[in-house]
Amino acid sequence: MVLSRRTFSAIAGSAALGLSLSGSGDCAAYAAGKAPTVPTGPAPGPPSADRIKHTVGFDRYSMLIDGKRLVLWSGEVHPFRLPSPSLWRDVLQKLRAHGYNAISIYVSWNYHSPAPGKYDFTGVRDLDLFLRTAAETGLYVILRPGPYINAEVDAGGFPGWLTATKGTARTSDPTYLKYVDEWLTAVDKIAAQHLYTKGNGTIVLYQLENEYANNVTSSLGRDYMAHLYAKVRADGIDVPLFHNDKGRKGYWAPGTFDTAGEKGRYLYAFDGYPSPFGQPPDWGYFGIGGTTGGSTASPHTPGFIGEFGGGWFDPWGGVEFGGKGYAESRRTRDAAYERRFYLTNLANGIKIHNVYMTFGGTSWGWLPAPIVYTSYDYGAALDEARQPTSKLIPMHQIGQLLHSVPDLAKLDRAAGITVDAGIKAYHLVNPDTKAHFYVLRNDTSTEVVASVPLAGTTVPVPVPPLEARLLATGIALGRRTLRYSTAQPMLWLTAGRQDIAVFTGRSGEVTRTGLECASAPTVTVLEGSAGHAYANGVLRVDARLSGLTRVLVEGGGISAPLLLLLADDETSGRLWRYETPSGGVLVHGPALLRTATLSGTTVHLTGDTVKAADLEVWGPRGMTEVVWNKGTLKTLATKSGSLRAKQRLPGVAGVQLPALTNWRRYAENPESAPDYGDSGWKVANKTSSYSITPVPPGQPVLFADDYGYHYGDVWYRGHFTNTGGADSVSLTYHSGAQGLLMAWLDGKALGTHRMPVPDKKTVRQGSWAATATFAVPGKAGSRVLSVLVRRMQHDEDGAAKDTHKVARGLAAVTFDGASPVVTWRIRGEVAADPVRGPVNNGGLYGERHGWHLPGFADSGWKVVDFPRAERRQGVVWYRTDFRLAVDTAVDASIGLTLTDDPARAYRVQIFLNGWNMGQYINDVGPQHTFVLPNGLLRTRGLNTLALAVLSDGNTPAGPGEVKLTLLGSAAGGVPVTTVDSPGPTTA
Ligand code: GAL
Repeated sequence: MVLSRRTFSAIAGSAALGLSLSGSGDCAAYAAGKAPTVPTGPAPGPPSADRIKHTVGFDRYSMLIDGKRLVLWSGEVHPFRLPSPSLWRDVLQKLRAHGYNAISIYVSWNYHSPAPGKYDFTGVRDLDLFLRTAAETGLYVILRPGPYINAEVDAGGFPGWLTATKGTARTSDPTYLKYVDEWLTAVDKIAAQHLYTKGNGTIVLYQLENEYANNVTSSLGRDYMAHLYAKVRADGIDVPLFHNDKGRKGYWAPGTFDTAGEKGRYLYAFDGYPSPFGQPPDWGYFGIGGTTGGSTASPHTPGFIGEFGGGWFDPWGGVEFGGKGYAESRRTRDAAYERRFYLTNLANGIKIHNVYMTFGGTSWGWLPAPIVYTSYDYGAALDEARQPTSKLIPMHQIGQLLHSVPDLAKLDRAAGITVDAGIKAYHLVNPDTKAHFYVLRNDTSTEVVASVPLAGTTVPVPVPPLEARLLATGIALGRRTLRYSTAQPMLWLTAGRQDIAVFTGRSGEVTRTGLECASAPTVTVLEGSAGHAYANGVLRVDARLSGLTRVLVEGGGISAPLLLLLADDETSGRLWRYETPSGGVLVHGPALLRTATLSGTTVHLTGDTVKAADLEVWGPRGMTEVVWNKGTLKTLATKSGSLRAKQRLPGVAGVQLPALTNWRRYAENPESAPDYGDSGWKVANKTSSYSITPVPPGQPVLFADDYGYHYGDVWYRGHFTNTGGADSVSLTYHSGAQGLLMAWLDGKALGTHRMPVPDKKTVRQGSWAATATFAVPGKAGSRVLSVLVRRMQHDEDGAAKDTHKVARGLAAVTFDGASPVVTWRIRGEVAADPVRGPVNNGGLYGERHGWHLPGFADSGWKVVDFPRAERRQGVVWYRTDFRLAVDTAVDASIGLTLTDDPARAYRVQIFLNGWNMGQYINDVGPQHTFVLPNGLLRTRGLNTLALAVLSDGNTPAGPGEVKLTLLGSAAGGVPVTTVDSPGPTTA
């Protein structure tokens, strides 16, 4: 599609500040090499769908929201990895509370499209609700709807049906573009209702494609990207667009492809997942130059990291983390990693920073790409069970700092400083305010106490091994000015008549802070111990960090008092700042502050406690009453200028989980029986396919996708007449990592073939094709060969080579000793569950007949006890019900844990109230616990669990122990609406 300049202007309007289409705005100014004009000023307040039109622009330093500089401090969250809409609010509130001002989300095409032309944004797929929740939480949104997303999801986000269509994906191929347009039309219709520019939502950036590193110079790629650009604009998306360049090579930088003449509304971003064991890379403006130097490739747009590793994914078998799972991902990318790498990013001029993942969640059902197992915890700051980890603390400290100190949005590199050996020092300056910033990084394994020249004074700054910190001089702390501090500034606010400033560091560190004071102030140490002295216009405060040290500074030439709070890391994680229309509120004590509103003289707070906690609140003048989670608290006014609750907030009460008993068992796979009625199955007799796997000469197409079966298990029944001589049959199949094939001849098990467990080398290998050969017991006459293939989803297409179109299912069948003609029939999943969506089910008999659903009539099934140990090739189902009665004021996060002797080769699909919560492979792992998200899980009421156990009969098969596990709990939480979980439509 080509947009005329006129149409285009009408779409884009002239909303973006300084970015008019005539080219006379800031971008044009940059092109001419002039200095930017937007001065440093306060950051914009938290966004909302406020019905006001806003401008979303940028210059080379930062984004400009209504002309105000903003550093976007974003975390990646995937709505499709948390299938319970009420919990979206929980996750988003936790991020906002911890200093994030933005989230970035993929929208996964396959999740929303069960068939060509069908798009579903209802229930757990309600994108509109997600975006509304983000706006209500006060978070900006970076929207990333692909069409290709990668993301360790099935086919990299492409719908199953797209794997069986003509044309090369991720190019300008017209068939592919036709489907892309359908998808973008559907998603943009919702996105256009949530644009910050329109005041109807908080989307401020929109990504085209994902790490597209192919066809960069050919029309296949350029026309494709130009098409996406024009399409998204034609759909009314008027916020800046961007692409995330995988290799930081300058691919798709502004001006490298046709942007419909729209100069200056497009940004360059790049991704990076550096090894946590190496040195943090200098990839920004101030880093290495040239087109391989990250944002150096686009000097007129702000430094923008679209994805920066916040953890890493773990393949089947746990090969990435030595079988230790995501705990190891979190350990190797811990809080110190975050400070070292993310502060380096800021020191490199990055002003749009997105951490992938910040909440990883769950690749439930058949969502995961074959490379990964169900959990997508990622070792992220917020774990899969929604529990805050210590990784949120540095994010909180930096996020609050970016909000409080707008000087950080406009930085130039300043004269290099040399500090002690072992320390890498970055020195930056804000050209308007002359505030200076220093990032000191210790890449060695021993602590260095660096002598750092700060504002004319050389101060000792301890930098622990493999740590980093940011120091500032000359920043405003309310009405006073910081001369220097060896502790990292975190935030300041004005509450009532006083200003409050918070500094942080590791517990036990000795800090020195200098405040400018025209004359000697009155200093009172209110808590902890601190030394202080006044000389030459500077008040010096020395303190060893331990809990919270409070120092009240009064007078000294400024009438407003300053409360200086020196907090160790843990304490800083209990300090919550919230903006309200009447001013800032600071809360100290509870495990989480979700919301704060002021009405009259009362401050209403909502939040969580885990242990019993003190509650102390600073807020606007006149605030006299504190309400916590709807209960009014008795408070005292403190010398710190706060209100403190007279009684501690109670911690969370214990949560009782029932044992899972009364299991009922039923075996299936009637499809293996010779006389099973398969006349309703499709005949597999196609002769050509759009798969990139060649169809073997002389054989019919057996690939499941060609017959409309895209997820989970697929059955084949081959009818042939043995005229004698067939000794063996060889079955070639493609399954993805961890797939398997089982065969039966006339109802007798021939055996099972399994793909090997990947290792570090093979894990990225695509396809996973193998040939299983089974002896055919000689018997003349009519024979039926039944084959079950467990497919493990489609490959991703990261290299844009159509690898999502590698076949799945059977590919070729040959007999040794004879060549009988075989008529093949195929059966996979039934039509997508209208509520649970396309990725919920595969084609097992039980799934086709609703055995996984609540309310399925299982009273005729035999009651059995766990552990089980039976030898049988095929599928056995187990069902049970259990009732929970968790207090409504408690947010309990509950998982299902399966354990057994690892020598037992079997796997389990777990269905909770009919929802496919993932796949457990007993002898591969490493995952044993599956998160059951509240909403799907009825925390007050009856639940149904169904386990579909697939075993090869070579070892005894479980389940062994199956139990509910408490993964975390808090008093508080968000209200949770039960997710619709319908039962069978016919019994
Ligand atoms: C990136 C990609 C993401 C995800 C990530 C690894 O390269 O853009 O979608 O796959 O790698 O988790």
